[in-house]
Amino acid sequence: MTPAAAVSPSGASAPGGGAPPLLRLRGITKTFGAVRALDDVNLDVHAGEVVALVGDNGAGKSTLIKTISGAGPANGGTITFDGSQVHVRSPQDSAGLGIAVVYQDLALCDNLDVVENLYLGREERGHNQPFSRLDEVAMEQHAIELLEELQVKTLASVRTEVGMLSGGQRQSVAIARSLLGEPKIVILDEPTAALGVAQTAQVLALVARLKERGLGVILISHNLSDVFEVADRIVVLRLGRNGGEFPATADQRQAVVAAITGLSAESPAAAAAAAAEAAAPSALTKKEASS
Ligand SMILES: Nc1ncnc2c1ncn2[C@@H]1O[C@H](COP(=O)(O)OP(=O)(O)OP(=O)(O)O)[C@@H](O)[C@H]1O
Ligand SMILES: [Mg+2]
Repeated sequence: MTPAAAVSPSGASAPGGGAPPLLRLRGITKTFGAVRALDDVNLDVHAGEVVALVGDNGAGKSTLIKTISGAGPANGGTITFDGSQVHVRSPQDSAGLGIAVVYQDLALCDNLDVVENLYLGREERGHNQPFSRLDEVAMEQHAIELLEELQVKTLASVRTEVGMLSGGQRQSVAIARSLLGEPKIVILDEPTAALGVAQTAQVLALVARLKERGLGVILISHNLSDVFEVADRIVVLRLGRNGGEFPATADQRQAVVAAITGLSAESPAAAAAAAAEAAAPSALTKKEASS
């Protein structure tokens, strides 16, 4: 199967019974001086859908995310959100639309506890005391409820300092924090890159729960096993362009590997690469540099 024969960019096989996408990017272009990092890129994300964004190092994944998050606005193309064309020129624009990004470094404060991290910058205050002490009780209660809802069960206490938590627990806290702004789309940049097997499973379960809540999720990952486990659709970027779009079913593995590498899907090399990837996940698409 060639990338061109895969799912159409309009998301013909996407969930939602043909509902229009929540987020639609068309013809996105981004240049850095003479470097064209993104060239005419299209991407659709529906509510309740996990879209994996994959591609080799330098393919343009982080650059594309920055055009959505406002951290690095596009030079050309259009962004449609919830049916209206929008301009995303800053992270505030993006957050205002309901787009949350969990970056790979998570930006948590190690010396603060889970509740303090969740509410950093958006502290609740008692209704009767608008200028008085923070409403610690309410924040703690909300934190416990949110983590229960997300079935984050391994935290001994929400008063544990985040510096004491495991990588998977830290990732869970960062994802929970992103939900406090009640976003419609959550973008996760390499959420399992630094995690062991059990912690990866926890985070993938959390991604599935975001989908259950009706959120659109964009998952950037170099680990195709994770991608096939949790995504509905896989969008490949290659050299700054759309490299193909595939349903995340096991029979697509070879086609996805071919699209990432630029090999022909029918070639023995692509078959060998897909087999190697399946046997030693992420060996092929191993992350060599952090975004
Ligand atoms: N600020 C910048 N200035 C110049 N070139 C840039 C800048 N940011 C990204 N690029 C270039 O854009 C291209 C895409 O980079 P990007 O970081 O988006 O890739 P990526 O797919 O996220 O890769 P990785 O998997 O390694 O994180 C690369 O050629 C990169 O060198
Ligand atoms: Mg990157």
